[in-house]
Amino acid sequence: MELIIQGAEAKLFRDGEVVIKQRIKKNYRLAEIDTRLRKSRTKREEKVYRTLNGINFPCPRLINSDEKETLKIEFIDGPVLRDILSDKNFNELSEEIGRKIARLHNQGIIHGDLTTSNMILRNEIYFIDFGLSFFSQKIEDKATDLHLLKEALESTHPLVWEKSFETVLKEYKEFAKEGKEIIDRLQKVEERGRNKAKI
Ligand SMILES: Nc1ncnc2c1ncn2[C@@H]1O[C@H](COP(=O)(O)OP(=O)(O)OP(=O)(O)O)[C@@H](O)[C@H]1O
Ligand SMILES: [Mg+2]
Repeated sequence: MELIIQGAEAKLFRDGEVVIKQRIKKNYRLAEIDTRLRKSRTKREEKVYRTLNGINFPCPRLINSDEKETLKIEFIDGPVLRDILSDKNFNELSEEIGRKIARLHNQGIIHGDLTTSNMILRNEIYFIDFGLSFFSQKIEDKATDLHLLKEALESTHPLVWEKSFETVLKEYKEFAKEGKEIIDRLQKVEERGRNKAKI
């Protein structure tokens, strides 16, 4: 088995068409809390993959999980958007991102970590990394999910983030249930952030 990535929270191995995501022990966390956290994130991720596989949303197929720290999912062969999003391709990719987030949110799924490292391009864009996801239809939760994407774009793609996010929102608004209300709330979420920064 080949180690593909040693992330902050997980080790990812590849065995042919399968990715094994193993959440690693964190010594700075109290042992009990650490075990609980790894277990709950693995279970969360498993549950969301199950739901998404059921509606054919572009994400890895769930193979299995030990409900503790290990998740086996399909290997998606392609680059992460972090490595390819550019001035040349941002428009198409951002439209697709906006439509796909709308689809997730319409299903009541909040991703919780929308970054371009969690999106892989293979014919179309696949979403991964659902360890912080949860089920909610609240406007506030959806707006916060979009806000986190904005922050991630801003820090990772300083040259195109503004145009990219604008395009994401344009498509999102069209395809998301209560899209307009969610985007209005996003503005409020951001005002709150700015006011906090002033204190
Ligand atoms: N199913 C998959 N197919 C192909 N590559 C994957 C797959 N799952 C994860 N990866 C690769 O591994 C990276 C980390 O995976 P993931 O996002 O699930 O873990 P993580 O918890 O975010 O780890 P960290 O936050 O420390 O980066 C991804 O950014 C991607 O490059
Ligand atoms: Mg990730």
